[in-house]
Amino acid sequence: MPSLSVLSVASELFPLVKTGGLADVTGALPPALKEERIRMVTLVPGYPGVLSALTDTEVVADVGALAGGPARLIAGRAGHLDLFVLDAPHYFNRPGNPYQGPDGRPYDDNPLRFAALARVGAAIGHGLVPDFQPDVVHSHDWHAGLTPAYLHFADMPRPATVMTVHNLAFQGQFPSDIFPALGLPGHAYSIHGVEYYGMIGFLKAGLSLADRITTVSPTYAQEIRSGAAGMGLEGLFRARSDVLSGILNGIDTDVWDPGRDPALEKPFDRRRMPPRIHNRKALRDRLGLDHDQHAPVFGIISRLTWQKGMDVVLDAIGDIVRLGAQVAVLGAGDRSLEDGFRWASGAFAGRVGVVIGYDEDLAHQLQAGSDALLVPSRFEPCGLTQLCALRYGAVPVAARVGGLADTIIDANEMAIAAGVGTGILFGQVARDPLIGAVQRTLAAFRMPDVWKRIQRNGMAADVSWAGPARHYAALYREVVAARGA
Ligand code: ADP
Ligand code: GLC
Repeated sequence: MPSLSVLSVASELFPLVKTGGLADVTGALPPALKEERIRMVTLVPGYPGVLSALTDTEVVADVGALAGGPARLIAGRAGHLDLFVLDAPHYFNRPGNPYQGPDGRPYDDNPLRFAALARVGAAIGHGLVPDFQPDVVHSHDWHAGLTPAYLHFADMPRPATVMTVHNLAFQGQFPSDIFPALGLPGHAYSIHGVEYYGMIGFLKAGLSLADRITTVSPTYAQEIRSGAAGMGLEGLFRARSDVLSGILNGIDTDVWDPGRDPALEKPFDRRRMPPRIHNRKALRDRLGLDHDQHAPVFGIISRLTWQKGMDVVLDAIGDIVRLGAQVAVLGAGDRSLEDGFRWASGAFAGRVGVVIGYDEDLAHQLQAGSDALLVPSRFEPCGLTQLCALRYGAVPVAARVGGLADTIIDANEMAIAAGVGTGILFGQVARDPLIGAVQRTLAAFRMPDVWKRIQRNGMAADVSWAGPARHYAALYREVVAARGA
């Protein structure tokens, strides 16, 4: 099997910069691909947290002409990740979130910031770095969406391109008056290029021009071809369905290993479950929940947004508590939802515990201490928290959409009899179906043998990157072969 080189272009990369699952994916895929003889180097913006983590650095190019101001391309390492970093202080040396200022508003120059990232990615594809010529350039989400466009519209040989969409809710659409600043030829502003309903569409451009499109689960890859899930791009996905596929995410099973997780009160694994109970006790202490052994704890680790169905949880929370459950929430997001959960923790003191904020350690503790993990997403391209939950023995209770439908086996009676159920799935994301799912979960929880079986089935599931990495490797080889043909 010949080895391949792949340049990954992304705005986030765990553990250096993360606002969501995108970072987990871009951080975990490169090491997993080594097994497949694929060398992946990742191009990321030079945010302060990225630059300060870099080791073995070397300036490989002056890219000021591509990045609208003094800028350098730096090669370096962070842990076991090989990186190219676009050090363009005028765009990326800003504190806090990669996309918005302290007032919560997106930066006005976001199109130029991420066009610069894409343009440098394309330049690497065209041979900017003599000792790293990628066979494939793999772009993630709208931030990297123009990379396939810069590669496509340059009049020179180019590597194969793959565009992955992690979340269609973010498409990177901007007024067309930025077009001249992008440095693309005039004919790129067309329906087959970067134009999108009279605007510039970064994600749309990548999806139109990449050789292959992937998304992060087979079911989401189907859903986005029609109706609401396509978010306006369903026609494009249908037109390009021959090059569209879904590859599930995995999780980093070293970072998420309940047998060796330094954040936990007590380690445990599938064969040593009793210590798990200490983690529930610690979680209850931390979140101010009553020590009631008859009440299962439903954990939530989530962005607090409409996508994640968090308004429906708030609507149902009184009933969930009255049915005999507890709810433990870690999340941040929309102000009104944050306020709603704060209110619930006061109104149902001892039954609802809430931490508003972002906390990696607490996320681990919640997975280890909750009995169930609630994921009532209206849409979910893949979802990672349910994968962590499976590994940590928290039974996922989730909406039957996207990657949730692909990674959880509903523990109905037949599945339990066959020994395969791993969670509870429900249909419509609304108050009554959610309460119904909670009732099913409570019924299973009150049958300890059944509950243990569901937990153990989940913990036996392979949620690692090994399988997904094989699929990506096969895709890269296939697209390289197709272009060479
Ligand atoms: P999305 O990317 O849509 O937010 P995913 O489930 O794919 O959803 O990924 C979310 C990632 O962010 C997971 O690794 C999850 O543990 C983490 N996460 C989400 N909210 C928080 C939080 N408040 N604190 C810590 N980790 C969080
Ligand atoms: C997005 C999606 C989520 C997915 C993640 C990583 O943020 O909302 O479902 O798991 O990207 O692919």
